[in-house]
Amino acid sequence: MTDQIILEARGVTKVFKGLTAVAEVDYRLIKGQVAGVIGPNGAGKSTFFNLLTGLYTPTEGKVVFFDQDITKVPPDQRVVMGLGRTFQLVSVFNSLTVLDNLVLSITRFTPYYHNKSKFFFADRTNSFIKENCIGAMETVGIQEKKGLKTSGLSYGDKRKLEIAMALSLKPKVLLLDEPFAGLSDTEIDEIVHLINKIKEGLSIVIIEHKVSKLLNLVEKLSVMHEGRLIFEGKPQDAVSDREVRRVYWGEKDESSAIKC
Ligand SMILES: Nc1ncnc2c1ncn2[C@@H]1O[C@H](COP(=O)(O)OP(=O)(O)OP(=O)(O)O)[C@@H](O)[C@H]1O
Ligand SMILES: [Mg+2]
Repeated sequence: MTDQIILEARGVTKVFKGLTAVAEVDYRLIKGQVAGVIGPNGAGKSTFFNLLTGLYTPTEGKVVFFDQDITKVPPDQRVVMGLGRTFQLVSVFNSLTVLDNLVLSITRFTPYYHNKSKFFFADRTNSFIKENCIGAMETVGIQEKKGLKTSGLSYGDKRKLEIAMALSLKPKVLLLDEPFAGLSDTEIDEIVHLINKIKEGLSIVIIEHKVSKLLNLVEKLSVMHEGRLIFEGKPQDAVSDREVRRVYWGEKDESSAIKC
């Protein structure tokens, strides 16, 4: 059986007032794949995610999801179609409880609640909402904190909540923008464990700065530099690729130690 391409960027470019943040990127995510994107600060990684998820419209090129051209589909509809994401800076409502963050996310993106009166009177005791919220909290391991105000959570738990919010919408593809940023080593291990647990039945792309965190987690690694994809392949091969070492690690001498 041939691999099914689930998400694709075709010649995608984004120019901000003369600055090319993403340049002619061709990218394919295979169904069931866990893939990584690395690159130095300003390489264009988050902009690329924003193009895939619809926060930005490409200056040129197309985004295709399940063979459908979604280049002009707004971000909320892409979520409903199964494109989930988390942000580089955790995006949760601090003033709400853990449970209410999930209820809000589910009602916001479930077509039934798109009618305003249904949205505002959404009931957390509704079995559909309840099952999804509880299921997502259990998956990420924060169910015991469901009644706590989100402002009191550790940054690691906020990350887990954000992932739970994405998972509660039953995505087919999950895009995680620097899920390890700001976390302790123990918290990073927990998120790695979580990604390994949820990857069954999902396709995942993870943005990260350091290749070492992705070596054992992803099947495919793409390296961005100045808006372009300069390498795509097995993570181990990225580490030994001459061009990657030159532009990403600034190395001239191949014998020098790799800074992972
Ligand atoms: N909305 C915007 N308007 C103007 N320039 C932008 C905008 N968003 C990003 N850029 C610029 O595009 C380039 C790529 O930024 P981007 O945030 O995509 O990089 P990144 O690889 O995610 O970096 P980091 O690792 O620091 O998160 C940068 O030069 C950035 O300043
Ligand atoms: Mg970024």
